[in-house]
Amino acid sequence: MPAPPQARPEVESLQAYSAPLEGRRGLLRLDFNENTVGPSPKVVEAIRAIPADHYAIYPEYDGLREAVLASLADMPGAIVAGADSTAPVPAVAPANRADGVPALATVSLPQPPALRPSLRIEQVGLFNGVDAAIHAVFQAYGAPGDRLLTTSPTFGYYTPCARMQGMEIEAIPYRMPGFAFPFEEILAALTTPPAGADQGWRPPRLLLLCNPNNPTGTRLAPEAVLALAAAAPHTLVVVDELYEAFTGDSVLPLLLGPGEQQPDGQKPGAAVATAAGAVAAPAAASETAALATAAGADPFAACPNLLVLRSLSKTAGIAGLRIGFAIGAAAVVDRVSRVTGPYDINSFAVTAAFAALADQAYVDAYVAEVLAARQWLVERLVAAGVRHHVDGGNYLLIWPQRPVAEVDQALREAGILVRSMAGKPLIDGSLRVSLGTLEQMGRFWEAFAICDARPA
Ligand SMILES: Cc1ncc(COP(=O)(O)O)c(C=O)c1O
Repeated sequence: MPAPPQARPEVESLQAYSAPLEGRRGLLRLDFNENTVGPSPKVVEAIRAIPADHYAIYPEYDGLREAVLASLADMPGAIVAGADSTAPVPAVAPANRADGVPALATVSLPQPPALRPSLRIEQVGLFNGVDAAIHAVFQAYGAPGDRLLTTSPTFGYYTPCARMQGMEIEAIPYRMPGFAFPFEEILAALTTPPAGADQGWRPPRLLLLCNPNNPTGTRLAPEAVLALAAAAPHTLVVVDELYEAFTGDSVLPLLLGPGEQQPDGQKPGAAVATAAGAVAAPAAASETAALATAAGADPFAACPNLLVLRSLSKTAGIAGLRIGFAIGAAAVVDRVSRVTGPYDINSFAVTAAFAALADQAYVDAYVAEVLAARQWLVERLVAAGVRHHVDGGNYLLIWPQRPVAEVDQALREAGILVRSMAGKPLIDGSLRVSLGTLEQMGRFWEAFAICDARPA
């Protein structure tokens, strides 16, 4: 029998990203950070209303990018075309940040509409989930021998995407204790050739930042993301904001906020990377110009190498329908969209996305429920002396006292799925537990106490 044809060498040696995705229905699914209650009833209604003959038609995307822009107008602190121009920009320095980077205070100042940067529809790319956007980014930008810079441990799909392009990977570990973001190391890897590097040294082609990071929850101040992008203009900096809704760490409010300088000479979001790697407020107006957006201008004008990824999977509860967005400079969105098919997002996802984007109140209520459940669970973990780590995102890490594989299996037998982090750098021996409602966390806690042989 003749052997089947060989794939590209990069594919022959590839280990596919595989997630244990079968047999999950009917169980309490705390293993993939999905929304644990499902989508808004308005989404369900919209899908049910699709006439059967529409299944026969290729999907149409008219108006969807506009709907994404309108939903961004609801973001705290964000200003997009047509939004309330007097809305204050909130401070973006929540307590408990683990990145060690001082966040810059922002000031609430009403601004005339003409001064606001605003996004255009060419700056929004539509994808079959953020996974597809990530894949497209690597296809469009990653050539054999190029380097991906990222952190470790982080979202598992970046690695196979880099490998299938024949890229090299430099993954910088989070700082212990506390999984702090390795800002100085990342900045150095972006800008400084390592000792002994030859003349041909080039900065990494791609920097993938997962913010907050899955699975450590590490939060990076949005100002620090902008500073890294400014420091490495030849690197495409992709910030995967899948979980930003749970803690509000997005760069978008900074980019879409007031375009004017503050009374102290500082523009919200304007930050520079100092030689020491810290993020500091710019000293002079000329430095500010490096990141400042002009009045009413393209919010990505000063950072055309930054791409923001957003999804409706985790908050809006439509992971199964697959839709995600990439937001950035029109030229970058165009390049990434070139490597996707014309109908990659199906009609059900489009209909669901319109309904989900129009029902922000549903997402807000779910996020509030998850945050309350997180506090409830953390109080129990603290009181029971269970080692854990919690930061951004709708998940946390727990180190059971019994072997992790046994607790994982016992929880499964009790009808609860969690994700073992066995073998992952820095977090070996832990379970990643997605956060759901208070009632669901109550069920988890009761079962965990039994499975880990702890008094409830
Ligand atoms: C950090 C991160 N990025 C991207 C994805 C994929 O998102 P989507 O469902 O939009 O493809 C996930 C899903 O787990 C994730 O955790």
